Amino acid sequence: MESPLDKYLRTHSEAQDQALEWLVKQTHIRTNYPQMLSGPVQGALLTMLAKLIKPQRVLEIGCFTGYSTICLAYGLPEGGHIDTLEVNDELEDLITEGFSRAGVQDRITLRIGDAKETIKSLAGPYDLVFIDADKREYCDYYELLKPILHSGSLILADDILWDGKVYQDTVPTDAQTQGIVKFNDRVAADPAVEKVLLPLRHGLYLIRVK
Ligand SMILES: C[S@@+](CC[C@H](N)C(=O)[O-])C[C@H]1O[C@@H](n2cnc3c(N)ncnc32)[C@H](O)[C@@H]1O
Repeated sequence: MESPLDKYLRTHSEAQDQALEWLVKQTHIRTNYPQMLSGPVQGALLTMLAKLIKPQRVLEIGCFTGYSTICLAYGLPEGGHIDTLEVNDELEDLITEGFSRAGVQDRITLRIGDAKETIKSLAGPYDLVFIDADKREYCDYYELLKPILHSGSLILADDILWDGKVYQDTVPTDAQTQGIVKFNDRVAADPAVEKVLLPLRHGLYLIRVK
């Protein structure tokens, strides 16, 4: 159920196009976790940031059905390319159909497999990285990314407020919450990056390599 705030944000941001609407519908029909979709407001932000940053190379960790990938692709400059990583091979058909319907299939390489292994095989450098996979592994991704980033690279990390669990008086001890807590603390203490934490949706960390 969309909250009044979410509705207000959505109706005052860029609207989803038909390809994204189709993908949202299919994600609800064909997967068990449609709530993992970035959604229209965060999607519009991803497109906007890509247009502002003009990245030639983008890495996405956690493609799911490709909603955020398409939004990033809409903002790419001429010649820009996205590598998107996804461990669940059952999603491949839906992902590739969505990319085709959105007309962005030529700008994206889908790499099926465990991101922790795939990242090690990537040459880089990447200008923009969107982290949105397993919350327990955010610190692992952060360390693995370092060799393939450059000064000025921007990392966007999603879900870093985790429904407010990370700032409760008593922080839950489950592995996902603790994974996010450790990641946020590591980023906050890292002198090699500039950072700003935004409360958009479930929390988005903007992290720029110095
Ligand atoms: C929150 S969803 C991504 C949502 C997507 N970015 C969007 O906005 O529509 C997280 C995805 O990460 C994938 N994932 C989890 N652990 C992974 C790993 N180690 N390597 C690659 N993908 C992983 C899951 O299968 C899931 O599809």
